[in-house]
Amino acid sequence: MSQQHRSSPAVLDHRTLARDHRRLAEILRPGLSVLDVGCGSGSITRGVAEAVQPTGTALGMDRDADHIARAVERFAGQPGLSFVCGDVLALTAEDHFDVVTAARALQWVPRVDEALARMVRAAKPGGAVVVLDYSHERLRWSPEPPASMARFYAAFLAWRAALGMDNLLGETLAGRFEACGLRDIRVTNQDEIARRGDPGFDGAVDLWLHVIHSCGPAMIAAGALTEAERDEAERDYQAFCRGAAERQHVVLRAVEGTRP
Ligand SMILES: C[S@@+](CC[C@H](N)C(=O)[O-])C[C@H]1O[C@@H](n2cnc3c(N)ncnc32)[C@H](O)[C@@H]1O
Repeated sequence: MSQQHRSSPAVLDHRTLARDHRRLAEILRPGLSVLDVGCGSGSITRGVAEAVQPTGTALGMDRDADHIARAVERFAGQPGLSFVCGDVLALTAEDHFDVVTAARALQWVPRVDEALARMVRAAKPGGAVVVLDYSHERLRWSPEPPASMARFYAAFLAWRAALGMDNLLGETLAGRFEACGLRDIRVTNQDEIARRGDPGFDGAVDLWLHVIHSCGPAMIAAGALTEAERDEAERDYQAFCRGAAERQHVVLRAVEGTRP
């Protein structure tokens, strides 16, 4: 089974280092070299490059060639910033970066321990690995979403699990870091709680409409969902977002460790 979907540029283009990878933003300082695994269209990586100027560098890597082309087009010429197309499961860099990071990317990697081991090897001894990721099983809406959306979400979790992806990754990361030999492991709660009336509420709840669009076709192809179920979930959830939805709590953890 292969994963056939693409994260939406409509979401990725608006991310920022300061808002969407907060723990990394606290750690960065001028002069560091940083690898950003699963950089998407490069928005956070651009912020990383700015934070490590004037002498530092940021390299964004993504397995999706279209995202990398978009990142290059958006940010060509920015000092210290470059992008490369590649899969973290084929990463061969050794002892190279001061910081190796991945935000919301390892959630999509089936062999997450292998990916993490490669990221650790890419860091210099004494360098840091910083991973930000979800525990999708813990997502809560208030009030409960429509039944069709609850069905979609259960199917989403089951589809991901069948592909070998970790639906509690935010919580299992610290143990995975320990198993990789990382030291000084620290977990920071980066949960995103959106309440109706907050400026970012629509964008936060709409994330799942993008997920229905981006993952729906692959889920249908895998037999995890019918087209009719997808369409019903999309219609009902859209109405929920514009009407009854009051609160969304997304569980996210930033986990960091030092390579000995
Ligand atoms: C949800 S996006 C996150 C993008 C960005 N880091 C952010 O936080 O906005 C996940 C990204 O990880 C990339 N990705 C997934 N699996 C990957 C892999 N095995 N190797 C490299 N990139 C991968 C996807 O192509 C996608 O661009």
